Amino acid sequence: MSEHASEVESGERFEFGKNWKKYSASIDENRIAIAEQSLKELLSQSSFDGLTILDIGSGSGLFSLGFRRMGATVTSFDFDPNSVLCTKSLKDHHFPNDPNWNVLEGSVLDQSFLKSLGKFDLVYSWGVLHHTGSMWEAIENALIPLNENGRLAVGLYRDLGIKSKVWHFVKKTYCSSLIGRWAVIGVFIPYYILRGFFEDVLRLKNPLQRYRERKKNRGMNRWHDWIDWIGGYPYEYTSLERLRQFVEPKGMRFVNTSNRSMVEAVFEKATH
Ligand SMILES: C[S@@+](CC[C@H](N)C(=O)[O-])C[C@H]1O[C@@H](n2cnc3c(N)ncnc32)[C@H](O)[C@@H]1O
Repeated sequence: MSEHASEVESGERFEFGKNWKKYSASIDENRIAIAEQSLKELLSQSSFDGLTILDIGSGSGLFSLGFRRMGATVTSFDFDPNSVLCTKSLKDHHFPNDPNWNVLEGSVLDQSFLKSLGKFDLVYSWGVLHHTGSMWEAIENALIPLNENGRLAVGLYRDLGIKSKVWHFVKKTYCSSLIGRWAVIGVFIPYYILRGFFEDVLRLKNPLQRYRERKKNRGMNRWHDWIDWIGGYPYEYTSLERLRQFVEPKGMRFVNTSNRSMVEAVFEKATH
């Protein structure tokens, strides 16, 4: 049994890839354009022509696709075999037989795997390193494949104090057993449905219109979006300050952050 499968079986890991499989079918031009725009904003550039990029934890493959479409040579990898399949099928659909996009299975916690990949201009890992079970080790390892002028861009869960501790408990319970899963679903899904209903009513919007808007913005079925959030385990979190204190002494300079709910940060080699 693979490491990934045994972690899932022992209740230590959520199967993100299963969710991505459903999501992949809904990736359309609109969703790709939104993803590309978010990459341009995070990295403050409009072209990635000629850059080599490593996408750690590529999931559906959407952001790897965005980088490739904007001219980069991309290597994507993920720990979950289903995520790897999703990324591969997205590649086969948009860039069949393209030698400038390589999709692999591997873990960011595996240093020898990372060393085998070579060096990159940009290492991008959004929404991944906090799901590895060893976030600080994963952040440190993500620096390994950077070339001498390389940049690191990460998106991590923000530390929300007691709220984060509660979510840790909820997600752990979800993954622990079938009973745990249905207990969490039984509490949260009705809550989300009711909350959505009252938001619709209070904002006096036609629920059908809001449903269509959500689908357009996220491109993701609401059920799978909710399950991805309530089940996403392992789960760790940090603040921007702690992230900077950890990364900067490792020869990196902080460049940029965005004002979203996640801790999003870009670092570059201090020698740059
Ligand atoms: C929430 S998804 C984010 C996917 C993608 N980066 C995005 O922004 O849409 C997290 C992904 O991290 C992957 N992942 C978890 N642990 C990993 C590890 N040790 N090495 C590489 N990928 C990992 C999961 O399999 C999953 O596909």
